[in-house]
Amino acid sequence: MRSRVSWAAAALAAVALWAAADGAGAHGNVTPQAVDTSMLPQLGPEWRDSNPYTGNEAAIKVGTSAFNQNCARCHGLEAISGGIAPDLRRLDRDCVDFTDEAKKKACYKETDAYFLVSIRHGKVRNGAVYMPPFEGIFSQEAMWAIKAYLETRRIDE
Ligand code: HEC
Repeated sequence: MRSRVSWAAAALAAVALWAAADGAGAHGNVTPQAVDTSMLPQLGPEWRDSNPYTGNEAAIKVGTSAFNQNCARCHGLEAISGGIAPDLRRLDRDCVDFTDEAKKKACYKETDAYFLVSIRHGKVRNGAVYMPPFEGIFSQEAMWAIKAYLETRRIDE
């Protein structure tokens, strides 16, 4: 596992590159892509504290495409990190080994909360944007659909 500092350095370099490509009118459009979640159970205005879509096939489908269009350029296609951002298949890795079901559940809930904060607010430190915030761009439904997809990609190593 690489240190947070080296992720950050690699990500900043990558963001600068995309910005340059955009400015030149070249390829590399980084505008967030809208996510249609109208076919999913609607969640209302209250933020959930754990994923209501775990195992929901329709949500996983929506999440797969939302991830590929909005996250994969940093976190890798199929969530396999190419090295510039953390490998999100390992997001839940600390939970996998719990044998006590209640503890495991609590662990997943904590990861869900961390996921939601990360995607809502992005990763911004000292004015530097390592990951853009998605609050106001994605609905809560879209965010949890992406999490449901990531749960299908989970690895324990
Ligand atoms: C511009 C590149 C970029 C994009 C786009 C991006 N991320 Fe990130 N993301 C990062 C970087 C870099 C970090 C690590 C930041 C740090 O260590 O502070 C990160 C961290 C995270 C984390 C915390 C992971 C951990 O192990 O701590 C989550 C969860 C996450 N991103 C989810 C997403 C999702 C979901 C999307 C798409 C909606 C997305 N990211 C889009 C670059 C990006």
